[in-house]
Amino acid sequence: MPRAAIIGTGYFVPERVVTNADLTQWMDTSDEWITERSGIKERRWLRVDENGQTEITGAEMGARAARMAIEAANIEAGQIDQVIYGTLNPDFNFPGNGVLIEDLLGLNTAGAMDIRNQCTGFVYGLAAADGFIRAGIARTVLVIGGEIQSTALDLTDRGRDIAVLFGDGAGAAVVQATDEDRGIIASVMHSQGRFARELWCEAPVANLVGRFTPEMIEDYRHYPRMNGQMVFKHATRRFCESIKEVLDKGGVSIEDIDLLVPHQANQRITDAVAQRMGVPDEKVFSNIAKYGNTTAATIPIALAEAEREGRLKRDDLVITVAFGSGFTWGANLIRW
Ligand code: ACO
Repeated sequence: MPRAAIIGTGYFVPERVVTNADLTQWMDTSDEWITERSGIKERRWLRVDENGQTEITGAEMGARAARMAIEAANIEAGQIDQVIYGTLNPDFNFPGNGVLIEDLLGLNTAGAMDIRNQCTGFVYGLAAADGFIRAGIARTVLVIGGEIQSTALDLTDRGRDIAVLFGDGAGAAVVQATDEDRGIIASVMHSQGRFARELWCEAPVANLVGRFTPEMIEDYRHYPRMNGQMVFKHATRRFCESIKEVLDKGGVSIEDIDLLVPHQANQRITDAVAQRMGVPDEKVFSNIAKYGNTTAATIPIALAEAEREGRLKRDDLVITVAFGSGFTWGANLIRW
């Protein structure tokens, strides 16, 4: 049976930097409050012109990240036979962004699907890619996590608990069948729908500014909402459980891990998990200070940056782990 190896990573973030100080022009908040609660100092938000048009769409961001991953993998785009796109905020209500990637990259009718699992979209995507490859359904899978958050946030005091946390961006990985002794070793996936309303957006998100009508702004169902303290409690617990479970499945121990790449939800969650699991800081990847929480995109952006910073090398043992709306959570154990 072939294994599924990550052979190339890439990412894209918009140029526009929005600092914590910038946010104070829209809402009653402060750099101190945001830094202390989340570790976030700045995030990237798309530029929007006077007609309400964003400089780039979600699928185009995903395509940029994908092109970088394809180049790093040293393959032709035409070799991709399946696209998996994780996002909570596709460009259209339907179809999903996966098919838009098929078109943007010219993939000649490759299979395409979206995973609507918010912050855990990429972890689920890697698990699916691994399954497809091991089962012989696909040979080369492009897994993308991409998110436009900025245009769908409530920038008034009403939405400030959420608005300060999120950023825009996309990350991608090319996963390919290999006979080598590396690749995705094990994955775990869980959900608990009874908590659906603790972190949710009830009605379709209007993710391009021009699509928000005054009625939609009045109707709060179109904005994300969160029970922050409950999410915090469940997230730290489920992150730790997932790590233990995937370690058990892979038959390795936490000391064997070279790099832990957690979903960048909140630096306090990352610190609590690392401390409980006994993972030293130098083995934990964090870039939340500069990008905020980009939901499905945090892990692939982190993997791409870690690789380019020399923190992720061939044969390293890596854990990716996430928790998010659903609630959903899960982890992957990977031999790089
Ligand atoms: N700036 C200033 N004050 C704020 C802001 C803000 N942006 N947002 C809320 N406040 C106020 C509240 O109104 C409240 O004021 P009050 O005491 O007068 O009522 C006060 O700050 C404290 O609010 P809490 O909600 O109790 O603050 P808490 O310490 O719980 O921090 C936070 C909130 C950061 C959301 C925290 O609950 C948390 O970290 N939760 C985890 C959620 C998370 O990371 N979600 C990410 C998305 S989900 C995921 O990726 C897994």
